[in-house]
Amino acid sequence: MLVNSKEILKEFKRNNKAVIHFNINNLEWTKWILEECNRLNVPVILGCSESAVKYMGGFDVVYSIVTSLIKDLDIKIDVVLHLDHGHSVESCTKAIDAGFTSVMIDASCEDFNQNVLITKEVVNYAHSKNVTVEAEIGIMGQLNHDNVNFGSTTNVSDVLEFVKQTGVDSIAPAVGTVHGMYRGDLKIDYDLIHEISMKVDIPLVLHGGSGLSNEILKKCVKNGITKININSDLQDKWSLGVREYLANNNEVIDPRKIISSGMDKIKSEIDLKLNIND
Ligand code: G3H
Ligand code: ZN
Repeated sequence: MLVNSKEILKEFKRNNKAVIHFNINNLEWTKWILEECNRLNVPVILGCSESAVKYMGGFDVVYSIVTSLIKDLDIKIDVVLHLDHGHSVESCTKAIDAGFTSVMIDASCEDFNQNVLITKEVVNYAHSKNVTVEAEIGIMGQLNHDNVNFGSTTNVSDVLEFVKQTGVDSIAPAVGTVHGMYRGDLKIDYDLIHEISMKVDIPLVLHGGSGLSNEILKKCVKNGITKININSDLQDKWSLGVREYLANNNEVIDPRKIISSGMDKIKSEIDLKLNIND
């Protein structure tokens, strides 16, 4: 069933566990993630970025794919359809109007006051439609080719003030993780996660979950993270599967065979990530 993220996040937070948000890119990824999470009977958050929405054809297409798969595959688990890194009020509004049950407004590149204003506007509209809202504060790390920009971590009093002023449902503070397949030593500030989680009532979200071992992810959860976003790890595993398959089957032209050759590796990676709650 399609639901907003409120009850799921509340329950995972209460149990000191983390729900995984997997990014979707197309019909196949959406299908495999739903199948695997349903097989393991765990709720899932399907994150769709603005660029993935554009790639797939638009907000209505994404909503139709997700709801049709839930129906036709007889998916029993709770599923959240979430706009990942919505960069404008307009984008969040379009997602909500199309039927997304959760949105992230990412105005973290703005100054504090502007971030508050934009987030508040999204919260007001989203809550009137029973849609949950995630926001970001601080500058997330980014991987640009060989360079790592670690961004800047959030200060605790800003998070408290931001949450109070916006009424947002969950918050992604910058705590030292990096978007993308970063494999070096990270500078995750576990103490910062812990301090924020002690002072803020709403669930905390960790962006840039790829390239981190389950041990590291578990440590983040232990310190107060309730939602973990995974994108690049699935891309990495899928492309590995496809490369291997094509190297051994270079006569194959059937797109279904080529695209599906990454499926087993994606599903194994999903299983691995879900192990963090064991
Ligand atoms: O919003 C999505 C993510 O933060 C995913 O980051 O590609 O490092 O897993 P990742
Ligand atoms: Zn992110």
